[in-house]
Amino acid sequence: MSTDNKIAKRYNRIAGIYDMMEAPMENMFSKWRKKILKDASGKTLEVGIGTGKNIPYYHDDIELTGIDFSPKMVEMASKKAKNSENVKILEMDAEEMVFSNDCFDTVVTSCVFCSVPHPVEGLREIRRVCKNGGKILMLEHVRSHKKIIGGLMDMFNFIPLHLYGANINRHTYENLLKAGFNPQHISVKNLWLDIVKLIEIKNVK
Ligand SMILES: C[S@@+](CC[C@H](N)C(=O)[O-])C[C@H]1O[C@@H](n2cnc3c(N)ncnc32)[C@H](O)[C@@H]1O
Repeated sequence: MSTDNKIAKRYNRIAGIYDMMEAPMENMFSKWRKKILKDASGKTLEVGIGTGKNIPYYHDDIELTGIDFSPKMVEMASKKAKNSENVKILEMDAEEMVFSNDCFDTVVTSCVFCSVPHPVEGLREIRRVCKNGGKILMLEHVRSHKKIIGGLMDMFNFIPLHLYGANINRHTYENLLKAGFNPQHISVKNLWLDIVKLIEIKNVK
C-alpha cells in the first residue's frame, strides 16, 4: 500500500535527516507542540507521527497510537518510543485507517495536512475514528489569505512538494468543512501570521 505512494516515498527518502533539516524551526515549534499536546488525553491517535517529535510532550498517562505511511518514518518514531510502554507505532495510511469507528478520545496532527495526498479523505477518517465529543488537535501550516504572500506560496509550492512531499498552500480549514466538520465546533488560533495555526475541534457527530 504505502510504498506505491510517491509522497510516502519522499518522506522515506528524508526520514534519516528530517530532524536535522527541521532543527532551525524546532525552537519555535517545540513551544507550539507543548501548547497543543497538553490537551491530549485518554486513548490518543497521532496521525503522521513522522520521526516522533511530539512523543516527549505527551502526558505520561495517555495511551498513544502513532501512524505514518512512510515505513522509514515508522522506524524512526519506533526508536524514539522504544522505552515507552504506552506508545504504539504503526504503518498505516491516514486516508484508510483500520481502526473501528469512535475509538479515540483525542486525535493529534502536527504539520501533516500539508502532505496527506487527499486531505479531505484523511480528515473524514479522523472524524470517523474519533469518538463523538472527542477532541481533534491540529498544529498545521496553511496557505496565507494575504494576496501577495498567498500568491507566492502558490508559485513556490512545487519546491517543498518535490523535495519532501509537503505543500505550503493547503486550505486546511476549508478542507475540514468539506470533511463534514461544523464551523461551530472548530476553534482556530493564529500562531504565526495567518500561516501556522492551532486548530481545535470538538468532534460532534
Ligand atoms: C511534515 S511531516 C510531520 C511529522 C510530525 N507530525 C512532526 O510534527 O514532526 C508529515 C508526516 O506525515 C506523514 N503522512 C503524510 N500523509 C500521510 C498519510 N496519508 N498517512 C499517514 N501518514 C502520512 C508523512 O509520511 C510524514 O511523516
